[in-house]
Amino acid sequence: MTSNLDDFRTTLHSLRVWDGPLPSFDTATAPAEPLELFREWFTHAAKAGQPEPHTMSLATVDADGRPDVRTLMLHDADERGWHFASHSTSAKGRQLAGQPEAALGFYWPSVARQIRVRGRVTAGGAAESRADLAVRSRGALAAALTGRQSEVLSSPEELARVSAESWERAGAEPHAPAPTWTAYVLFPTEVEFFQGDATRRHTRLQYTRTPTTPWTRHLLWP
Ligand SMILES: Cc1cc2nc3c(=O)[nH]c(=O)nc-3n(C[C@H](O)[C@H](O)[C@H](O)COP(=O)(O)O)c2cc1C
Repeated sequence: MTSNLDDFRTTLHSLRVWDGPLPSFDTATAPAEPLELFREWFTHAAKAGQPEPHTMSLATVDADGRPDVRTLMLHDADERGWHFASHSTSAKGRQLAGQPEAALGFYWPSVARQIRVRGRVTAGGAAESRADLAVRSRGALAAALTGRQSEVLSSPEELARVSAESWERAGAEPHAPAPTWTAYVLFPTEVEFFQGDATRRHTRLQYTRTPTTPWTRHLLWP
């Protein structure tokens, strides 16, 4: 009889990455600014069939300097930065309030591409944060109204009760205030584009800037 551990290890060690043909990445013709390249790679990944390319890891640090990470939805990427939204009272919201530096990670296995973004995060005001919900679903509003994200839940029944109330309220009051829901934007000072290569000769292009100087580009050893 194989054990759970055997199954896990056999499965883990049988897995490979990037079996199929991979896109090329000509860094010599890369745009001068990372936003343009991010949009180009994002659209390419979506069209190549990459599921959910708009999901990303958000890394933050807590008051003791301990890193934390979770998956979020990307809401936009423009000259202000990379946009996402969450509860200001959640673990990540408290971490960002204490230390507003963060990192984002995108991994699109269908095209063997990774993008890393680092920078300072700013919380939007009440109007901008509420506007973020206005273009989203009833379920998103209901979840925002429920709040209490990252608090200890006493029982599944309590969640079912509060969620049902929020769902009803989101239907009856589509403009209901959701005080803890917050739009955030990460202003990038470092963005790295990684193109995986089957022979491990990966291509890495890093863009860096300071808040007062323009972007410069460097290749990185893989
Ligand atoms: C695919 C996916 C998308 C998610 N999108 C969001 C999001 O946009 N905003 C959010 O607050 N949580 C989102 N979550 C939940 C977070 O990963 C996380 O569980 C929650 O925000 C609590 O994180 P925290 O305790 O670090 O604050 C998403 C989870 C997954 C798996």
